[in-house]
Amino acid sequence: MDGNGRWAKQKGFIRAIGHENGTKSVRETVEACAELGIKNLTLYAFSTENWKRPKLEVDTLMRLLVSSLKKEINTLQKNNISLKAIGKLSNLPKKVHKELKEVIESTKNNSRMTLTLALSYGSRDELLNVVKEISYKVKNNIISAENIDESIINEHLYTQNLPDVDLLIRTSGEQRISNFLLWQIAYAELYFTKVLWPDFTQQHLCDAIIEYQNRERRFGKTSEQIS
Ligand code: FPP
Repeated sequence: MDGNGRWAKQKGFIRAIGHENGTKSVRETVEACAELGIKNLTLYAFSTENWKRPKLEVDTLMRLLVSSLKKEINTLQKNNISLKAIGKLSNLPKKVHKELKEVIESTKNNSRMTLTLALSYGSRDELLNVVKEISYKVKNNIISAENIDESIINEHLYTQNLPDVDLLIRTSGEQRISNFLLWQIAYAELYFTKVLWPDFTQQHLCDAIIEYQNRERRFGKTSEQIS
């Protein structure tokens, strides 16, 4: 969800206003995904690197998170959407962590769609954790090194119950991954749009999905094998 800062700057506002307007696009996108029957939506809301931003901006983002969670819990319930979070959640301020845990707990049985927020998330941090946990288990004879395979790695990722990514959308014209789900996007289709996140509408989402539908996903096979 990139481009909140530039959106605000273009309009002569402070960056916080960009983030505030970004929450409207979050709402629209979640709503559209649920209506389209998408089962999993993961939003990169705050990276491990974002902690390096000015304290005022970090505080604003944390405040926005708490207020959005409070505001949207009823909509999540009404629409049968369950909330999850991935990342180093223990690094979040207590208030955010508490609110998040409450919403996750109260929506855990909802089954229409899973909305996952990546918070204090970094893929390298996630992979480091995986290596540490698996090493510990090998050392203590819980698993043997020879048996380590992709499914064991998947089970130790923050995203353990989520499928691989099909479509990754990045807004604002930047064409990079920025430490997001590096393992999970191995065969994802990448879609970059110049639209800044606060301007991202349901129509932009549909444009991305239509382009995705027209891609040929070969997963290493030939065209003939796929058809
Ligand atoms: C990137 O834009 C955006 C973020 C770091 C934060 C995203 C947060 C929201 C959209 C609001 C809260 C989210 C939820 C889930 C309620 P940027 O600030 O890097 O923009 P720039 O590159 O133009 O400076």
